[in-house]
Amino acid sequence: MEMQIKRAASGDPVELSEALSELDCLCVGTDGWSAASFESEAAKENGIVLYIEKNGRIAGLICGYYAVGEGDITSIAVHPDFRRKGLALKLIREFEKQLPNDTEDIFLEVRETNTAAVSLYEKCGFGAVSIRKNFYDSPRENAVVMKKTINHTM
Ligand SMILES: CC(C)(COP(=O)(O)OP(=O)(O)OC[C@H]1O[C@@H](n2cnc3c(N)ncnc32)[C@H](O)[C@@H]1OP(=O)(O)O)[C@@H](O)C(=O)NCCC(=O)NCCS
Repeated sequence: MEMQIKRAASGDPVELSEALSELDCLCVGTDGWSAASFESEAAKENGIVLYIEKNGRIAGLICGYYAVGEGDITSIAVHPDFRRKGLALKLIREFEKQLPNDTEDIFLEVRETNTAAVSLYEKCGFGAVSIRKNFYDSPRENAVVMKKTINHTM
């Protein structure tokens, strides 16, 4: 299944940010981002919003930013119809490629009980570094903070 990864940018049609928000909310419920949040992340110089489109639908997305040698993944979501086909792995690899060369570490937070996402991140080389107590609401839950150190020699 060949699917191209695209990067959202300022000036993209509003329908794109609406579709990204729809997928995010479908996948993570109340933690999902609004269309306005996707639009503003894509417009930031240090924001990265990537998505995969399939037959006019958004199959998957990843969103994050970078600053002073660090990258941060804030959201990743794959539509239930397209799961376990390696899309999330592809999106994380591309996110890493889009980070500036001086990036040393990538961080993210994940709900403690989200075993699918934790397995995904571990497969990508992330490891747990700390717990943020009651980080999430609805339902209230701890976050696991995970980190990956970029190996620049590879
Ligand atoms: C987590 C999520 C993004 C994974 O997307 P995906 O495209 O299905 O993931 P991939 O096919 O790239 O899976 C890569 C690896 O991640 C792990 N993984 C993915 N889904 C898993 C699941 N349901 N259970 C256990 N491990 C899983 C596996 O190691 C998998 O490799 P394998 O298929 O060879 O076993 C997707 O399930 C999703 O959108 N979930 C809801 C949103 C969410 O929880 N986002 C994370 C918020 S921090």
